[in-house]
Amino acid sequence: MKILVTGGLGFIGSHTVVELQNKGYEVVIIDNCSNSSPDVIKGIRNITGKDLIFEKFDLREKDKIKEFFKRHNDIEGVIHFAASKAVGESVEKPLLYYENNVSTLVYILQQLADKTSASFIFSSSCTVYGQADELPITEDAPVKVAESPYGNTKQIGEEIIRDTCKVYPAIKAIALRYFNPIGAHPSAEIGELPIGVPQNLIPFITQTAIGLREQLSVFGDDYPTTDGTCIRDYIHVVDLAKAHVVALQRLLEGKNTSNYEVFNVGTGTGSSVLEVIQSFEKVSDQKLNYKIAEKREGDITAAYADTTKANNELGWSAKSSLDDSLSSAWKWEQKIRS
Ligand code: UD1
Repeated sequence: MKILVTGGLGFIGSHTVVELQNKGYEVVIIDNCSNSSPDVIKGIRNITGKDLIFEKFDLREKDKIKEFFKRHNDIEGVIHFAASKAVGESVEKPLLYYENNVSTLVYILQQLADKTSASFIFSSSCTVYGQADELPITEDAPVKVAESPYGNTKQIGEEIIRDTCKVYPAIKAIALRYFNPIGAHPSAEIGELPIGVPQNLIPFITQTAIGLREQLSVFGDDYPTTDGTCIRDYIHVVDLAKAHVVALQRLLEGKNTSNYEVFNVGTGTGSSVLEVIQSFEKVSDQKLNYKIAEKREGDITAAYADTTKANNELGWSAKSSLDDSLSSAWKWEQKIRS
């Protein structure tokens, strides 16, 4: 069965391609390589021993999408990762974010609307909850006003899909609200490749440990948490990738209870920044150079998932511990710098 993975060379996309191939799906990737490289295909092949189809183009080119679906009229499912994801950049370039993340989503759904049936998985984010009033966060928690154009594209994306599924019964969709994806494939064949100075915690930690950055700044230590640092739900990217496959299977097998469903994808456990550092020091067996710095604007105090819905309805749960995730991230960092 043929599955389209947009952004399939990116961090979460590439790990999901591996899990799809492991389950016997035929994978077609569309990626513009704006934040990834065709070399990732080699890493995927080294893990799975399987080939895939790769087409390099930008999803803003609507005619190319149309022509693509004509050539691949046997695609039965789409996992849509391709999007821009830097919060700060989205504030500077809102139109770019709305075009990359919203317009392209519409173009793909337009193609699916013509099909007799199509299963669609969307990369959403726990960012839609903002600072939730209750923890852990369930899918019923209200969506808060977005803090950035990036966050807004995820909210708008969900709304577009929900409205589309109402009138095109052929389209069945699931939005997965990711918490904080980290780590790398245990083989260290694929992983995260941040361009420039990493904005996210784990790549900043591993780059500091390897000597690329001098020091990690811990953004704030007077939050109302046990140790004063922010709490997040860090999920291993392979666990997250597997969640995509089970979500897709649910749709393909018609096990969905509604044509548009939403699931949290996290571990259910919150870890503070200092706990992450401690865990990293343990698995890497070295001291990390860090200092306490000013709070980062826009950071929320704490977010971690209630994963009951995904556990019960998808039969999925995260398997890797924080130590496992950080250990795989460290192994990957060492490999790419060697
Ligand atoms: C960020 C995005 C979120 C996006 C997610 C993708 C923001 C405000 N939010 O989430 O929308 O979906 O990435 O993974 O950018 N930290 C430090 N020092 C650093 C970097 C981070 O102390 O150098 C702290 C942050 O304050 C935060 C935690 O580490 O408490 C995690 O930060 P990060 O990895 O950037 O993820 P989020 O901010 O949770």
